[in-house]
Amino acid sequence: MENNLTVVEYKEHDKLVDFYISRGIEFGDDKKYFHPPVFSYVALINDELVGAITVCKEEDDFILDEVAVKEEYTNKGICKTLVDTVIKRIEKENGNCNMYLVAKHPEVFTSMGFKEIPREDSPSFSECFTCPDFQKNCFPKVMVKNIIVLEDKKIK
Ligand SMILES: CC(C)(COP(=O)(O)OP(=O)(O)OC[C@H]1O[C@@H](n2cnc3c(N)ncnc32)[C@H](O)[C@@H]1OP(=O)(O)O)[C@@H](O)C(=O)NCCC(=O)NCCS
Repeated sequence: MENNLTVVEYKEHDKLVDFYISRGIEFGDDKKYFHPPVFSYVALINDELVGAITVCKEEDDFILDEVAVKEEYTNKGICKTLVDTVIKRIEKENGNCNMYLVAKHPEVFTSMGFKEIPREDSPSFSECFTCPDFQKNCFPKVMVKNIIVLEDKKIK
């Protein structure tokens, strides 16, 4: 991973939309998130935005709504660092829950502990499912990571 990478919380979620769009993530004409974001983090190298992640909530569970890394900084573990950051925060603040995502590139997320599930087993949380391209020209996979916080007494 890049030595001078910093990851910080960023509260101006709307200002990240153009970055996500620049990396091929779809937004409607209104450039609004499907669910209101609960938190975002940005990855910076020498103050340059090189990656971002935005998480939303669906009842007791979380949705990894968007994650993107600038093309020239891909394959350096930045996405993994961003995902680890949000998972640590959720573990600390929420305890046991699920984090869902609709992944165009499921391979990226399997190494982070996400597993594919049938769409019917997930809450209907994504605008992907109503997109005309869904299962016609675009075949994203629904994935989940079970976030389980072990209580100290259960550790031998
Ligand atoms: C997908 C994306 C966020 C990955 O970011 P990244 O910083 O390059 O990912 P990482 O370097 O942290 O890689 C994490 C893992 O995914 C793998 N990976 C990364 N890009 C991959 C690709 N295109 N295909 C398959 N595996 C890939 C890495 O090898 C790594 O696996 P490992 O831990 O077993 O070595 C980035 O390519 C991107 O911004 N793409 C455009 C936007 C997008 O598709 N977002 C995700 C929507 S589901």
